[in-house]
Amino acid sequence: MDNKMPDTNQRGSFGSNIGFLLSAIGSAVGLGNIWGFPYKMGKSGGFTFLLIYLALAVFVGFAIMLGELALGRKTGFGPVNAYKAVSKKFKWVGWLAIVAPFLIMTFYSVLGGYCIYYIIINLIGLFGNMPTGMDSFVTMITHPMISIGIMILFMIICYLINRGGVDSGIEKFNKVGMPALFVMLIIIIIKALTIPNAVEGLKFMFKPGYAVTGGFIDSAPSALSVLATAGGQMFFSLSLAMGAIITYGSYLDKGESLPKNSVIIVVADTIVALLAGIAVIPAAVANGINNGVPVNEISLGGPKLLFVTLQDVFHDMGAIGGIFGIIFFVLVLLAAISSAISLIEAVSVTFIDRASAKGKEVNRPRTVTIVCVVITIVACLVAADGLGSNGFAPWQFFGMSEPTGAWSEDWLDFMDMFSEGIAMPLGAMMMAIMIGWELKPSFFHDEIHSGYSGKIDGFWGFCLKFIVPIAMFFILLVQLDSFFSFGWF
Ligand code: PFF
Repeated sequence: MDNKMPDTNQRGSFGSNIGFLLSAIGSAVGLGNIWGFPYKMGKSGGFTFLLIYLALAVFVGFAIMLGELALGRKTGFGPVNAYKAVSKKFKWVGWLAIVAPFLIMTFYSVLGGYCIYYIIINLIGLFGNMPTGMDSFVTMITHPMISIGIMILFMIICYLINRGGVDSGIEKFNKVGMPALFVMLIIIIIKALTIPNAVEGLKFMFKPGYAVTGGFIDSAPSALSVLATAGGQMFFSLSLAMGAIITYGSYLDKGESLPKNSVIIVVADTIVALLAGIAVIPAAVANGINNGVPVNEISLGGPKLLFVTLQDVFHDMGAIGGIFGIIFFVLVLLAAISSAISLIEAVSVTFIDRASAKGKEVNRPRTVTIVCVVITIVACLVAADGLGSNGFAPWQFFGMSEPTGAWSEDWLDFMDMFSEGIAMPLGAMMMAIMIGWELKPSFFHDEIHSGYSGKIDGFWGFCLKFIVPIAMFFILLVQLDSFFSFGWF
C-alpha cells in the first residue's frame, strides 16, 4: 500500500457494531425499496422476480458488499484513497465511486424534498382540505420555487446530520430513525391490508403470472429483462458501487465480523423491500379497484406510485387519511435521509481522508458544507425541471426535436443514467476483477477473518472471479439499452 494510514480519531468511527449495522441498513433501505422494488417485482413476474432477485443478492450482492466493507476497513479510507492504496491499475475506479454518489444526490435530494411536501399537505389535510394525488403532484412539479424550496429543506436536514460526525451524527440518526421506520411500516401494512380488495395487490406481487392474467400488464417481460431489472434493482437497493459501503466500512472497528455484517445488511434490506411492497401495492391496487379504475390504468410505477396513487389512497380514507399520509411520508422521508447521508459521506470522506493523510487538521463542518452546497446547486436544475414538465428537459435544452431515450426526458433520468446506469455496474465489475484477478481474494484474508472464523473464501472468490463480472457486464448493457433505447433487448 502506497498511502499512509489515516488517523482514525480525526476521521471518526462508529461507536458500536449495532450503530454501524443500523447505518449501513439505513443506507440500503431507501426510496429504491419503497417504490422501486414493489413495482418492479409486480411488473416483472412477481414471484419469479423475487427468486431471481434473491439469487442475485446471494451471489452478487453479498460478494460485493463483503468486498467493499473489506476494502474500506483494510485501508481505513473512503473510495478514492482506498482504491489508490491497493492498486495502481484500478485507482480510477475510486473516482467513479465519488462522482456517482454526487450525481445520485442531485436527484435523491429532490425526491426527498417531495416527501417533505407530502408530509405538509397531509398535515394541512388534517384540517379539512385534503388534496388528491394528481392535484398535489402537478402543483409541486410545475412550481420550480416549491420544488427547489423543499429540496433545500431536505439538504439542510442531511447537512446537519453529516456535519455532526460519524458517531454523533450518522449513527445517532440511524439508531432512532431505523427502528422508527420499521414501526411505521408495520402500522401502514396493517392499515393497507384491511382495505377491501387488498388481496388483488398481494396476488399482483406474489402470484406467478398474475400481473398478466389479472389484467395489470399486457404481456410478460422476457426472462432476460427480468434478470436485468432484478440485478439493477438489487444493486441500487444495496447501495453498492457508490462508495457508501466502502466509506462506512472504513469507520468500522477491526474486531467486528464482516461476513456476518454483510449477511445481515443484505437480508434486512430485502425484508424491508418486501414489507414495503406489502404496504404500498395492495393499498394502491385496492383503492383503484374500489374507485372503478381499470387495473391496467392504476399507476403503479415511477414517482406517480407514491405521489399520486398512494396520496389518493390517503385522500379517499376521509378524515383519518391525513394521519396515515403523515406516517407514510415520514417513513419514506426517514428512508431517504438515511440513504442520502451515506451518499454525502461517500463524497465528503475523500476530502476528509486527504487532510487526514497529510496530517492536517480535518475540518468536517467545512468539508460537509462545501459538498452539500455544490450538490444543492446542481440539484436546483433537477428540481426546477419538475420531471421534464417545465420546458427545459435535456432534449429541449440540447435543441433536439424530441426525446431519444430515457436520458433525455428529464434531468433526473439524465443524472441517473451516469450514476446508476453506467458508474454503478462499471464500478462493481471493476472491483470484482480487481479483487478476483489482480489482488486475489487472499489479499483480504486477514481482514475477512478478523472477527470471523468460518469458511467463506472459496465461495467469495468464485463469485468475484466469475459471477459478478459477467452479471455486471450484462446489467451495464441493459442499462445502456434502456437509457438510450438502442433496442438491444
Ligand atoms: N439504497 C438506496 C435506495 O434503495 O434507495 C439508494 C442508494 C443509497 C444507493 C446509497 C447508493 C448509495 F450509496
